[in-house]
Amino acid sequence: MCQLKTKENKLDPNLIVGLDTSDDAGVYKIKDDYALIQTLDFFTPIVDDPYTFGQIAATNSLSDVYAMGGQPLTAMNIACFATCLEPSVLADILRGGADKIVEANAILVGGHTVTDKEVKYGLSVTGYIHPDKVLTNAGAKKGDVLVLTKPIGTGILTTALKQGLITETELKEAIKSMSTLNKGAANAMNKVGVHGCTDITGFGILGHVYEMASGSNVCVKLKASKVPLFNKTIELIEKNAVPGGARSNQSHFSKWVCIDKNIPDSLETALYDPQTSGGLLIAVAKDKAELLIEELTNENCLCTSVIGEVVDEHKNNTFVEVYL
Ligand code: CO
Ligand code: CO
Ligand code: CO
Repeated sequence: MCQLKTKENKLDPNLIVGLDTSDDAGVYKIKDDYALIQTLDFFTPIVDDPYTFGQIAATNSLSDVYAMGGQPLTAMNIACFATCLEPSVLADILRGGADKIVEANAILVGGHTVTDKEVKYGLSVTGYIHPDKVLTNAGAKKGDVLVLTKPIGTGILTTALKQGLITETELKEAIKSMSTLNKGAANAMNKVGVHGCTDITGFGILGHVYEMASGSNVCVKLKASKVPLFNKTIELIEKNAVPGGARSNQSHFSKWVCIDKNIPDSLETALYDPQTSGGLLIAVAKDKAELLIEELTNENCLCTSVIGEVVDEHKNNTFVEVYL
């Protein structure tokens, strides 16, 4: 997101989360016990089936509301559609999105479509939350552990699909993950009470861990071997199925990351893999971690992995220490 700061933003006391903290969504207080959460996300197809793509794009857009600790309220479609395609393709994409909006207990209230050479789809979602319950990137505290609720590797796998290295059947596990709402994970964390949350998307696990560490002004120790990966992720990295985004994440974020020499290059690449509709990264007090994992398991979360801990205030430029 570009960082347009305006004076008005700074002066408005009702603005809880704005542009300057690179968080998942904007949050604006309407009254003492009610704040609006606003998000927008859309992108090009990553799978061939239009209905599945609609589900994934909507799940990804709704996720930013869950990542703030909120509940989705209303959603609007945003779509770019090529006129050379059958209108039924757009209908299927929108139907996939609509089904996820219903599953999220939100309501579709409108939208807008423009013609474009490349298909794109997503949602603008408005959610709500109590102003005191907002979970930002900035809440992680020393002694917290970090819990991740979905495996990593969607960028690698979808790149491999485009390169013909795997079939859509082999992508099944990742498709299930990308089209699973973070609703259950959010219910679990809101029930337990946690310190901070973000969802894992374009910056990869390391980029988002860095954002949380720098936002919270702490250092995180990340245990790479505990980061859950989809089947074949490492194998496909070795076959060079690496999206450009993984390389640009690495060149952007590595200056704040100290990585153990024992970590293979392929695993390091996986940690920078940009995710679509990834899981929640939750910072929770150590003595509540067990309870959180129990609640996440009750909600049928795809994984409940403790992947690291908040060790200290950051020293020098290093915000994330990665070891095996
Ligand atoms: Co996000
Ligand atoms: Co987003
Ligand atoms: Co958040």
